[in-house]
Amino acid sequence: MNYVITTEQLTKKYKKFTSVNNVSLHIRKGSIYGFIGPNGAGKSTTMKMLLGLTAPTKGSFTIDGKHFPDDRLEILKEIGSFIESPSFYANLTGRENLDIIRSAGF
Ligand SMILES: Nc1ncnc2c1ncn2[C@@H]1O[C@H](COP(=O)(O)OP(=O)(O)OP(=O)(O)O)[C@@H](O)[C@H]1O
Ligand SMILES: [Mg+2]
Repeated sequence: MNYVITTEQLTKKYKKFTSVNNVSLHIRKGSIYGFIGPNGAGKSTTMKMLLGLTAPTKGSFTIDGKHFPDDRLEILKEIGSFIESPSFYANLTGRENLDIIRSAGF
């Protein structure tokens, strides 16, 4: 198995609104994966589905060869997560906040 995470047509709808639309990912084992997209693109919703925090409306996924929903508990035993809310200084501009991060050398 070359992939640590795969998703197939993963979809989440909130009533009529589609938050995640037929996402099919293939993430290789041992890789660092940048999951990027505009605000509201559905990144957090996708992560919540992978972590069992919200149920997919459609589709399925595998984590390390274990298949959701059949192996749901086995998946949950083996994953940890940290969904971070970035902190920032509300009294500074976006550019000033980025300057602070840049100068801290992260
Ligand atoms: N519980 C919910 N009920 C209804 N709509 C929701 C819910 N959660 C998310 N959404 C909507 O689904 C869409 C995707 O949201 P999501 O939070 O997954 O985006 P995101 O890519 O993580 O955005 P950001 O970059 O701002 O973190 C947004 O339009 C959001 O308003
Ligand atoms: Mg998000």
